[in-house]
Amino acid sequence: MKILSINYSNFRNYKELFLEFKKPLIFFIGNNGEGKTNIIEGIYLFSTLKSFRDNLDEEMINWNSDYYYIRSEILKDVPKIIEIGYSKEKKKKIKLNGNELNRKADLIGELKTVALTPTDLKIIEGGPVERRKFIDTFLCSINKNYMESLLEYTKILKQRNKALKEKNVSYNELFAWDKMLSERGSFIKEEREKAVLKLTNYFQENLTNLSMQKDSFEIKYRPNIKENNYLQKLNEKRDFDLKMGFTSVGIHRDELFIGKENLDLTSFGSQGQKRSTVIAMKISTYNYIREVSGVYPILLIDDVIRELDAKRREFFVSLLKNSGQVFFTTTDLEGIKEFISSIKENIQVFKVEGSLVKEIYL
Ligand SMILES: Nc1ncnc2c1ncn2[C@@H]1O[C@H](COP(=O)(O)OP(=O)(O)OP(=O)(O)O)[C@@H](O)[C@H]1O
Ligand SMILES: [Mg+2]
Repeated sequence: MKILSINYSNFRNYKELFLEFKKPLIFFIGNNGEGKTNIIEGIYLFSTLKSFRDNLDEEMINWNSDYYYIRSEILKDVPKIIEIGYSKEKKKKIKLNGNELNRKADLIGELKTVALTPTDLKIIEGGPVERRKFIDTFLCSINKNYMESLLEYTKILKQRNKALKEKNVSYNELFAWDKMLSERGSFIKEEREKAVLKLTNYFQENLTNLSMQKDSFEIKYRPNIKENNYLQKLNEKRDFDLKMGFTSVGIHRDELFIGKENLDLTSFGSQGQKRSTVIAMKISTYNYIREVSGVYPILLIDDVIRELDAKRREFFVSLLKNSGQVFFTTTDLEGIKEFISSIKENIQVFKVEGSLVKEIYL
């Protein structure tokens, strides 16, 4: 799987930009604030339809415009065209090979990406919400049913909470919602359980390599409803929920433990340990997708390489030797020259400056 070319129109700082990719390893080099991450953000949208910066679509529209449009030609057995357009009035429109998609979920799986960005540290430091987001983003990017179930669950939960808060709901109505919640919730729980179990093995191997055998942390899924009695738990809590005005049990309260011997990494980890852990987690999703789908997902590495010490860079070099297409951003090549010298013939480099992106030759 690879991206052959991308057009950006009125996307972030780019009024018009066309990029063609001819090598597997693509670098964007430029000073701070020139628009490197914006390019990677655009690529990520083709796979998840969402920004990894938690930004809204409105915020990605160029300040002098009222819409953005991005188009990519990808190669996945056969060439395919993905187009995404957004304006406040028309909302988001997605086309695959010229045909408009009615459901967002229909784009899932077309372009698989794994992004490593500095904001990933939130997964360690940001608490249960960020950790659930990590699992959800990953599963949504590969599993249509998961994405749809999660969207439905969230919608029903919102309605249930609103009714609970306003206290204008009958037991019968609640029961109808509870059945829907428990159906989706049980499915989501099962999928999370399976995924984390599978990620764990890759994670531990990656972390061992990244920490030079020093660290061995665990990731463990801790569902809020542990037994196989989702509906019963909702029923048990119904009076309590009515009193409190929100839904107190369910997958929206699941946790993902990261640490050792019941000590969370946030409470004892060094900066370097946290960074390695997050990279090990992200790369484990890469390993997972690779194994399950048989294709190399596209790797997006935003500003990460330079932060790593020499040993950890070795991990990346060996990863890159066994990967597909990879996009990097970095301020300059100083400090990573050594890192890229062994892979020079596979590299394409773009200089990003003043909203212009020019290919340069090393
Ligand atoms: N909607 C928008 N319209 C126009 N320009 C925007 C928009 N959103 C962000 N920008 C501009 O994009 C630039 C930031 O781009 P980006 O985050 O890609 O930089 P970067 O090259 O990755 O920088 P760094 O090296 O600091 O990470 C800023 O100069 C900002 O003003
Ligand atoms: Mg950046």
